[in-house]
Amino acid sequence: MKLNLLITGGLGYIGSFTAKKYLRKTRKKSLVIDNLSRGNFFAKKYSHNNIIDISNSKLTKIIEKNKIDTIIHLASFTCVRESIKKKQKYFKNYKSQIKFIENVKKTNIRHFIFSSSLSVFEKNKFKKNLSPYSTYKLKIEKYLKKVSSKNFKVIILRYPNIIGSDPSGKLGENNNFISRIVPLFYKKLMKRKKIILYYDYRRKTYPSRNYMHVQDIANINLKVLENLKKFKKKYHIFNIQNNKEYSNFEVLKCLSKIINKKPFFSLKQINKKESINQIYKSKDDILKLIKYKIKYDSLNKILQTNAKWFKKIY
Ligand SMILES: NC(=O)c1ccc[n+]([C@@H]2O[C@H](COP(=O)([O-])OP(=O)(O)OC[C@H]3O[C@@H](n4cnc5c(N)ncnc54)[C@H](O)[C@@H]3O)[C@@H](O)[C@H]2O)c1
Repeated sequence: MKLNLLITGGLGYIGSFTAKKYLRKTRKKSLVIDNLSRGNFFAKKYSHNNIIDISNSKLTKIIEKNKIDTIIHLASFTCVRESIKKKQKYFKNYKSQIKFIENVKKTNIRHFIFSSSLSVFEKNKFKKNLSPYSTYKLKIEKYLKKVSSKNFKVIILRYPNIIGSDPSGKLGENNNFISRIVPLFYKKLMKRKKIILYYDYRRKTYPSRNYMHVQDIANINLKVLENLKKFKKKYHIFNIQNNKEYSNFEVLKCLSKIINKKPFFSLKQINKKESINQIYKSKDDILKLIKYKIKYDSLNKILQTNAKWFKKIY
């Protein structure tokens, strides 16, 4: 793979797996920009790291000095529920990302890969009542479309919900700022504490999501890099998903079976902005294009991989 890669947010969850895979595949370290507002220094050995904000104007010099030609942009705040409560924080983060793209456009970057989110959809349609998190994802997609060109190709990857750990226990998610569904359920199950399960009383349904293992998404990122020649247009957009959606209730049931702990839970009405059924059928199949077969194709397989990592950090 002849490219010089920058990963923003490379000390975060998906970024650290992507940097690790890139190092294993190419035997060279990617360059990472992360302000450590969420990331963890435990992943620093997989990359060369600059601890600065993506909006920092020094970035153009860093990109030029390292002859960077390709960017995987992952740096962002990432929680739908948090964004509803802390709108201003997410607005500021969105502005930093726009500033970053403006600066990147001043350099010789040829390929820009942006991690968007399936949370912009509900049942095959753009969701009407979007959270600030998803609103900003869409705005950045649109901005990137506007600035894309044959010399600045943009590939948007809308990720599903990413979960799972390295089965060896060496790498996984370690985020003390937001509570994601699987670590939250795990901690409560282990302490035999009551779990709040969000539920839509109006539609009489549990919210469902499409889940993918973090190693599959890191492999997909790598495959996209290997196949850049196949992305011929100036702007591409893909929805990435696993075979099946699961509800929060199914996640709890599956996890409690794996760790053999009985769940205690009560129901709470879900906020309308947290999409209910995250289903979107793609027109263009990215997995076919890059010839990738998903390794962790069931919830049970994905959740089994957490055992060693969760024991280590919780
Ligand atoms: N995890 C998921 O389920 C999921 C689903 C869909 C899309 N995504 C997207 O994938 C990307 C990575 O998600 P993740 O789960 O690895 O999140 P994460 O929080 O683990 O990692 C994000 C990283 O970005 C860094 N960061 C945030 N703002 C920054 C800034 N202004 N300057 C520099 N660094 C900054 C944080 O310190 C962190 O290390 C995000 O863009 C997210 O929206 C994630």
